[in-house]
Amino acid sequence: MKANVSTSHPPPESAIDRNAPEYPPAEGEAESHYFETNPKPEYLDEVEGRVREFIKLHDGKRRIALVTSGGTTVPLENNTVRFIDNFSAGTRGATSTELLLEQGYAVIFLHRQFSLLPYSRHYSHTTNCFLDYMVERDGQVTIDDKYQEEMMKVLKQYQNVQKHKLMLLVPFTTVNQYMWTLRMISLQLGQLSAPQTTLFYLAAAVSDFFIPTYRVSEHKIQSEGGGEKLMVNLDPVPKFLKRLVENWTPGAMIVSFKLETDSSILLSKSRKALERYNHQLVIGNLLQTRKHEVTFVTNDSVQKYTLSEEDEKSGKEIEAIIIPQVIRIHNEWISSNSKK
Ligand code: PMT
Repeated sequence: MKANVSTSHPPPESAIDRNAPEYPPAEGEAESHYFETNPKPEYLDEVEGRVREFIKLHDGKRRIALVTSGGTTVPLENNTVRFIDNFSAGTRGATSTELLLEQGYAVIFLHRQFSLLPYSRHYSHTTNCFLDYMVERDGQVTIDDKYQEEMMKVLKQYQNVQKHKLMLLVPFTTVNQYMWTLRMISLQLGQLSAPQTTLFYLAAAVSDFFIPTYRVSEHKIQSEGGGEKLMVNLDPVPKFLKRLVENWTPGAMIVSFKLETDSSILLSKSRKALERYNHQLVIGNLLQTRKHEVTFVTNDSVQKYTLSEEDEKSGKEIEAIIIPQVIRIHNEWISSNSKK
């Protein structure tokens, strides 16, 4: 039985309009304050070791990309029963990672745990349940003939990536885990001898507001028998992109995404992001049309890319248009930043 209705796309008129003024980019002081007051995840040192090993294996042999993917959560309780989440499924990040790997990049995939993963995304979650691809034959479970060719292709790509250790999976759930891990990986990548060969592709949907650790309730918030309102007081999450560009990984090519729901402000917000953070490329997208339309904004150009209806019907994904263009811009970035 296939789930043939989608519950993840509310009518556009009920989507949030984030036309509010933005908080300024975080400077050094905001960075120290954040990382001093929000504790380091206890597993981070172990992940750091794996990241170091991965970078050592690929440095100088191929370009390395950090792809962030999926949404961060904001826990309302320390022993978390409830949390604030967002819609991102990780499709953009997982699909783009497959294409970057195909083009010779090694990829650190910083993703929301249990969101879509490269390769397995084709057969996971309710819209593509892996059981629908299987049949019973002579008492054995096997793949249905009609999916053999397509599945063999995905399997071979996946096995090649595994064999050559071309992808490192690094999970996060909360916005605090994301921030700590992003900074740790960025600082590691910042030590490479040719930083211009590194690509940051920041497709994760990062919470804009959170509850700092010192204000999070330790136990499940009680409803006190009903009738009481729950007032949630959220602080803005520091905008660390400027720190990343200028201090954590200077010289790398950085692509950020701008998500809006109101088409009339998408371009101005994307331009503003480029100006504030001083990086190379903002990819603007609207919640409602993100799967078939994106706008690339650089310092000297604005270019819209659209997936035609025909392409969409044939199963082509917009990332197949996005990634070659990102690589083209990355090539230019490398040429203009390499010693002659
Ligand atoms: O996963 P899918 O369902 O396929 O959806 C893909 C997507 C719509 C989530 C993706 O294409 C996208 O737009 N991702 C970015 C969404 C987002 O959070 O945008 P933003 O405007 O809040 O942030 C802009 C950029 O600033 C992001 O690249 C983020 O990495 C960065 N940022 C955000 C918050 C923060 N505190 N610090 C940051 O540096």
